[in-house]
Amino acid sequence: MIGRPGKTVRTGYGDEAAVPVIDGTKCNACGLCVKGCKTFTLVMEGGRPAVMPDNGLGCIGCGQCMALCPRGAIRVAGRRISPEDALPMPPREKRATPQGLENLLLARRSVREFSKKEVDRKDIDRILAMASSAPMGIPPSDVGVAVVAGGEKTYSLAGDIMGEFRRWQRFFNPAVMKIARLFMSRYNVEIMRDFILPATAMMSRAREEGTDLLFYHAPCVMLFHQSPYADPVDGQIACTYAMLAAESLGLGSCMIGTVSFAMNQNVKLKERWGIPAENRVAIALIMGHPAFRYARVLRRRFSSVAYP
Ligand SMILES: Cc1cc2nc3c(=O)[nH]c(=O)nc-3n(C[C@H](O)[C@H](O)[C@H](O)COP(=O)(O)O)c2cc1C
Repeated sequence: MIGRPGKTVRTGYGDEAAVPVIDGTKCNACGLCVKGCKTFTLVMEGGRPAVMPDNGLGCIGCGQCMALCPRGAIRVAGRRISPEDALPMPPREKRATPQGLENLLLARRSVREFSKKEVDRKDIDRILAMASSAPMGIPPSDVGVAVVAGGEKTYSLAGDIMGEFRRWQRFFNPAVMKIARLFMSRYNVEIMRDFILPATAMMSRAREEGTDLLFYHAPCVMLFHQSPYADPVDGQIACTYAMLAAESLGLGSCMIGTVSFAMNQNVKLKERWGIPAENRVAIALIMGHPAFRYARVLRRRFSSVAYP
């Protein structure tokens, strides 16, 4: 049964609905696709799955039906998803074991000292492929990545962002900080006064001597950005996946948070670095070959764990 585009939620790349297509010759009417479809585009009708494009939210192209169908009888196209996106399931023995994954998570550190070696393009592509499997608010993905590769380029990007930090230094002068409580929350005043301003002043001084304390001279920076329709944390989740992917390839990485504040204030800066004006930078990830090896892992704890 062939579906037709129905209504659906909007994303940064349009409001096209995906179109599910059921191959009646393969479908055994097990109903798994219908159970997996929480937008209710697929329903059981007369004991068989049927496509109802205008039902519920409309097909958002989550692909649950394609992933679940044991017979490959359902395909979804449109909304940047295609039938070719349903790939063979990796066998269980080829997936990370809990111990293997825990070891990877424990061994990862935020790396801030890199060798001069550039990051191989093959590694960058693999990291992007792995990170693109991250969950996101509305699928397939409203996250984009601007990859700034090469030590000279990342140094130049850091220079641009430092320019924005210097503007903050001028704006948030002692007189403004005295009255900042009138237009900023107590927490933001404290963060600005005790962390952002001293840290950016330190970075500025270091930069004058040719030292990059923003990206630590990393040879690659990934800027994760997202459309205004995306969930606010989509880009950060994708970045977390990229970080773990980098770790699995033996690369060191570190998230850099302040970049998003600086770039989101300045449309020209976003556009210069390949980010659409309307998109918001979620976070940056620096990466490269670590300059040294860590001897130990660090135990961390949540600030609290409760079972209310
Ligand atoms: C959202 C976020 C923003 C961060 N921003 C910065 C940053 O601007 N500069 C930096 O040196 N480290 C940054 N970090 C790295 C943290 O400082 C680091 O995760 C922390 O020191 C814990 O160390 P670990 O990652 O080795 O466990 C950031 C981390 C996160 C998760």
